[in-house]
Amino acid sequence: SGPGLKDYYRSFFPIGVSVSPRVLKGEEAQLIISQFNSVTPENDMKMGNIHPRENEYNFGRPDSIVAFALRNKMKIRGHTLCWHNQVPAWIFKDEKGDTVSKEILLRRLKDHITTVVTRYKGKVYAWDVVNEVISDKKEEFYRNSAWLRICGPEFIEKAFQWAHEADPQAVLFYNDYNEINPVKRAKIIQMVKDLRAKGVPVQAIGLQAHWAFNEPTEDQLEKTFADFAALKIPLQVTELDISVYPKEHEARARSASDADTSYNREKENSQAEQYRRCFAIFRKYKNALTGVTFWNLSDRHSWLDNFPVQGRKDYPLLFDRNLQPKKAFKEVVSF
Ligand code: XIL
Repeated sequence: SGPGLKDYYRSFFPIGVSVSPRVLKGEEAQLIISQFNSVTPENDMKMGNIHPRENEYNFGRPDSIVAFALRNKMKIRGHTLCWHNQVPAWIFKDEKGDTVSKEILLRRLKDHITTVVTRYKGKVYAWDVVNEVISDKKEEFYRNSAWLRICGPEFIEKAFQWAHEADPQAVLFYNDYNEINPVKRAKIIQMVKDLRAKGVPVQAIGLQAHWAFNEPTEDQLEKTFADFAALKIPLQVTELDISVYPKEHEARARSASDADTSYNREKENSQAEQYRRCFAIFRKYKNALTGVTFWNLSDRHSWLDNFPVQGRKDYPLLFDRNLQPKKAFKEVVSF
């Protein structure tokens, strides 16, 4: 087979993909090996998966992803140590079922981070330490999560400190989405600046980049990268996909029947155009950008199937359901 994405981008940045053990065999594994030089476990290192009960860790699946990556000389991004989703039920509760104190919750978070980061020390080169703590609401700074309600914002700096103590070599990321929204972006930048001014080891920023064929615009892309690059710390695109459906802000409340469900040649072409625009910006910012990771391998399976609209399939990736390169692939590698 010809050159893969990773070969075209050799002089720019590593090209990653999020994986579960399911795609690490057969033809999907072959595609991963030929195209990518970095992996992120899609779910298997999240707290709810890796640490389902207080004294129980599930290392089997994440270990198998790490072994696959090492066997194939790929980088590994760890995802994620502290998030409001996919958290185990026990973490916020005491034996009686009451909400735990701040002291106990921080102790649990410390144990979790120390155990997981230590296990993958020297293997996972970058960690999404804290994920999505900035609110999408204009009038709210931090997301109103159980972490925030119980601990206040202190858990954020603690998480970075504990991760750094467990593996001083790992590059520690703050990761978030909706980074093209100027209000949210300003808050992300503010938080990262404030933490760094206090000496907290937030060393890089992850832009999830869950985008669509019609958004961000060229102008939004430029502004987003210009603003983040001004921080002079490494950036990565951590969860790239480009939906063939327009972003629908109220989409969660919608049913498949009143949402756009069409996928046709025209959509495929505008998606390819959007991929071309995005990678042109990524190349332009190669000095700041230390990696670009796709969220899922091919249109055979994407987390956007059923999200945000139940019952709707999406086609957001560079490879189709038969694992063949789409028009978007050509646009990404033609430069
Ligand atoms: C998603 C996974 O892809 C799904 O399989 C899972 O059901 C939900 O989480 N932001 C993140 C990722 O940081 O961890 C999310 O991954 C997608 C949004």
